[in-house]
This record gives sequence, C-alpha cells and structure tokens, in this order.
Amino acid sequence: MPKVVYVDFQGNRNELEVANGMTLMQGAVMNGLDGIEGECSGSCACATCHCYVDEAYLDKLPEMSENEDELLDGTASERLGTSRLSCQIRMADDLDGIVVQLPEEQ
Ligand code: FES
Repeated sequence: MPKVVYVDFQGNRNELEVANGMTLMQGAVMNGLDGIEGECSGSCACATCHCYVDEAYLDKLPEMSENEDELLDGTASERLGTSRLSCQIRMADDLDGIVVQLPEEQ
C-alpha cells in the first residue's frame, strides 16, 4: 500500500499506509492522527484539512478547484504556495511517499 508521511507542527513524522482512492484527509482521520480535522467529511466545505504539500509532489496533484482555492483563502494558518486541502488529494501509486506538513491550527 502506498505511504503518506504526515509531519506535524512540532516536526514529528508519522508514516501511514493509505489505500489508493482514499484521500489524505481520510488517511489521517481514520488513523487518529492529530492535526487534520476534516469537519465536513471531505465535501470541500470547511478547510480544516489544510496541509502543506512537499514541493516534489505538487505537480503530481490534481488541479485545484475554484472551491478549494476559495476555501484556502480562509484557513486558520497561513496559506502558502504549497497549501492544499488534504480531502481533495486522492492516494495513487505515483503519490507513494508523499510528504505533507500539518499547519499549526486548523
Ligand atoms: S474536510 Fe472539509 S474541506 Fe476538507
């Protein structure tokens, strides 16, 4: 199964297996990982699944929807060029090893 490395705000790395087709938000929440809340259960309506994606993987991600783009403007922690909503990223083989940094607040 492909792996995702979630790095929390303190710099702790959590490497989790996330099945293809699941979102990075689901992978975190189902494993009880702190730092991603996913309040709207992935319907792209809350922005509590904000993460910063390692630049090496940015080009492999699906294009951001207008809705995601708007939500990212209202995140609790600063939006950066690498910001994405983790409920909009579905795991796939080419994302194996993806590293996402979790923000200070959701
Ligand atoms: S879980 Fe709500 S926007 Fe991602």
